Amino acid sequence: MVGDNKVEISVTQQPDQQERGSQRTVDVAPAMAGHTVPDLTPTEAVFELKDVEVAYSGKPAVREITFDIFKERITALIGPSGCGKSTLIRCLNRMNDLIPGAVVSGTILYHGEDLYGAHVDPVQARKRIGMVFQKPNPFPKSIYDNIAFGPRVLGMKGDMDEIVERALRRGALWDEVKDRLKSNAFGMSGGQQQRLCIARCLAIEPDVILMDEPCSALDPISTGRIEDLMLELRENYSIVIVTHNMQQAARVSDMTAFFTVDVDSDDDDGGRIGRMVEYDVTEKIFTTPSDERTEAYVTGKVG
Ligand SMILES: Nc1ncnc2c1ncn2[C@@H]1O[C@H](COP(=O)(O)OP(=O)(O)O)[C@@H](O)[C@H]1O
Ligand SMILES: [Mg+2]
Repeated sequence: MVGDNKVEISVTQQPDQQERGSQRTVDVAPAMAGHTVPDLTPTEAVFELKDVEVAYSGKPAVREITFDIFKERITALIGPSGCGKSTLIRCLNRMNDLIPGAVVSGTILYHGEDLYGAHVDPVQARKRIGMVFQKPNPFPKSIYDNIAFGPRVLGMKGDMDEIVERALRRGALWDEVKDRLKSNAFGMSGGQQQRLCIARCLAIEPDVILMDEPCSALDPISTGRIEDLMLELRENYSIVIVTHNMQQAARVSDMTAFFTVDVDSDDDDGGRIGRMVEYDVTEKIFTTPSDERTEAYVTGKVG
């Protein structure tokens, strides 16, 4: 399997490789092999970020971030630890509002409207733009009540049993839990808990799902289930995922943004600032990236 997925990459400026010529084979398998993206036509933008910067207590953590996130596509944010992936994904549903000292500047449009406009209620925004975290965080309640919680608080209309079943089906969990809906969610496996958290998000009818390393606490089988689920959800939702797992980014995402962290030359204490290096169709990022820093990262030479 691995041998079927070699990609020729032309490498320039690699001193240690020069005598051996500038062509070499980079193993991207099985990453691109499982990549099932039938249609890469750009869709309308869900988010348009323009010159976004986030500072914590006056110190910038990410700077000059400009890119569009497309509707019904999966967008992966990748890059070394500390480059600002979590900081950036939190900007997309105003979660940074909850972090003391965090200040977001620049512009973020959500469906063409300023997400940070004075008229926007961040609580309302978070209903449309749900988030799933690294560690599954079910409430200490039954499976049923985990899902029903949001719809009840929001006073959503309709039969609650149907709302719960629909969300659990969309979360690819229904068949596993339909006979124990009243059991405590803490009795589920980690992978099931994470699908429950995704289903809980879906129950309140969002249009975007943000996922910050959703599989990093899960085993490979649970990870595979979540990846399959993401590919199903992509039909109806826009998904942004932060992942440390290159193969995961390659397998599930349509677009990939690569970030790096630079030492800030303006900062006397050597402050580090995250910046976007490259944003493109995932296949391009993983096979023929434009920037040598991206290439070094996706081939595992740094990171
Ligand atoms: N709540 C916070 N308060 C202060 N600094 C933070 C906070 N969260 C992140 N940072 C800083 O912002 C930078 C980017 O962090 P983060 O967004 O967590 O990166 P990543 O998710 O890519 O690992 C780091 O220097 C980190 O120390
Ligand atoms: Mg992070």
